[in-house]
Amino acid sequence: MATPMKPNTNTQTPALQISGLQAWYGESHVLHGVDMVVRPGEVVTLLGRNGAGRTTTMRAIMGLTGSRKGSLKINGVETIGLPTHRIAHLGVGYCPEERGIFSSLSCEENLLLPPRLKGTSEGMSVDEIYAMFPNLAERRHSQGTRLSGGEQQMLAVARILRTGARLLLLDEISEGLAPVIVQALARMITTLRQKGYTVVMVEQNFRFAAPLADRFYVMEHGQMVEQFSASELDAKMPVLNELLGV
Ligand SMILES: Nc1ncnc2c1ncn2[C@@H]1O[C@H](COP(=O)(O)OP(=O)(O)OP(=O)(O)O)[C@@H](O)[C@H]1O
Ligand SMILES: [Mg+2]
Repeated sequence: MATPMKPNTNTQTPALQISGLQAWYGESHVLHGVDMVVRPGEVVTLLGRNGAGRTTTMRAIMGLTGSRKGSLKINGVETIGLPTHRIAHLGVGYCPEERGIFSSLSCEENLLLPPRLKGTSEGMSVDEIYAMFPNLAERRHSQGTRLSGGEQQMLAVARILRTGARLLLLDEISEGLAPVIVQALARMITTLRQKGYTVVMVEQNFRFAAPLADRFYVMEHGQMVEQFSASELDAKMPVLNELLGV
């Protein structure tokens, strides 16, 4: 939504194409046929009530659920039978809700930790990351435990950018953070979009997601029940109100 001058990307191979995806945790059947398409360079928001299956969708993309069925293509490559590390090497970066910052390491050590993904573009340099997140530059020598929640969240995203991943899966990054930090995260998403990253973000915070996304999907009971583009957002507000109470 931020820049209207996007090329028509309809003919490109999707960055992510999910069809009829089902997923289970043990005996528990959680995803019941999820369909979703994300084009290269798009920012797509996945909305839904608690327990709708948004985190499970991200985990299924990464091969982190129990079993999965259906089709899940990343840049045209079928990944349904691949293990997690092979999926990551296709250029996917997953930022889970639990941020996974190593508390005994410094901010910079956390940044230097992830290995570069094979066969993907070069990751962002530490200097580029510090230019994008001045807070992290100031805190580069601080131990993980001394970082604020907002700083840890930025570090968790920044760490993925180091790997060279171009498709980013971000789970509720704004959750529980102060408004000033949420604004910084919104600027980060805008910058990533300008740099051509493809972003899928799960959000509970509709006001954070609404101005950032090119398109929206809404999940309920392990299926997509709505999808629309940013230009349809106003018209869809009554439906969203009903589905999400926003
Ligand atoms: N490890 C697990 N084992 C069994 N069931 C799970 C597991 N994790 C999630 N579930 C169930 O799967 C369903 C979808 O959960 P999921 O975490 O994907 O929801 P969500 O949309 O991310 O919502 P929220 O983050 O608000 O909880 C829920 O009914 C949840 O109870
Ligand atoms: Mg979740």
